[in-house]
Amino acid sequence: MLDTAALVVDDISLAFGGHRVLNEVSLDFHPGQVTGLIGPNGAGKTSLFNCLTGLYQPQSGTIALGDMRLDHMPPATRARTGLSRSFQHVALCSELTVTENVMFGRARLGRSGWADAFLPLPAGRTEAAEARKAALEVLRRLDLGGIADVTPGSLPPGIQRLVEIARAIAAEPRVLLLDEPAAGLNPSETRQLMAVLRGLASPELIIVVVEHDMDLIMQLCDRIHVLNFGRRIATGTPAEIRADPEVVRVYLGDSDD
Ligand SMILES: Nc1ncnc2c1ncn2[C@@H]1O[C@H](COP(=O)(O)OP(=O)(O)OP(=O)(O)O)[C@@H](O)[C@H]1O
Ligand SMILES: [Mg+2]
Repeated sequence: MLDTAALVVDDISLAFGGHRVLNEVSLDFHPGQVTGLIGPNGAGKTSLFNCLTGLYQPQSGTIALGDMRLDHMPPATRARTGLSRSFQHVALCSELTVTENVMFGRARLGRSGWADAFLPLPAGRTEAAEARKAALEVLRRLDLGGIADVTPGSLPPGIQRLVEIARAIAAEPRVLLLDEPAAGLNPSETRQLMAVLRGLASPELIIVVVEHDMDLIMQLCDRIHVLNFGRRIATGTPAEIRADPEVVRVYLGDSDD
């Protein structure tokens, strides 16, 4: 199927000094699918996310979203084109309420500059009201309406993760990159997370999940890419990945989570 809106990574290589972190990696991610990105610690998963969002600049290769080349765009421009992420370590602002944290996710959509939305200026006021309404809608959609006015520090880790996802979603992204969303969650929080992620899937949205929780990956993903030492070693459906001898040898075989 010709997919004109796919996110396509072609032949990227990234090194720090002499240390090769990504080695001629080619991957594709499609709208309407949840794609898993898995591999042992240090395989290059977070580095790949950093290349996608522009935090890291690969030495070679290209990144495109549909017919738009992203690889020379600065991070803020990539965010405006619809790339949104959550972080491996929860990064919420502890001074702000949950709603205000989620409002920050909409910054890229703002017309009057994101800071204005937090200042008592006329343009900022209208925008702040819109952003608040949209943030509350996202929170309700994720069943988080009840915590809208609390600060994140008082919340369990699983709920903080969901707030991060709410912030990422508030940007109305075309691509949602989630780096270990289930890290530190208990089984019931993980189930809640999976239900939320299933609910987010839509025909236009590309969802990419980096995760070590293999039950989550196998149940949630339509397709999986496997990295090992900065190289892509396999791509396939969950069933194909489970049966892939090299993946089992380097990753699934010695993992009991
Ligand atoms: N800024 C950096 N400077 C130097 N080396 C880096 C940098 N960022 C990542 N690396 C190296 O790149 C390799 C891949 O790291 P990365 O964080 O991408 O792995 P990962 O697959 O996300 O691992 P994990 O599952 O533990 O999160 C590691 O060897 C890491 O030390
Ligand atoms: Mg990582």
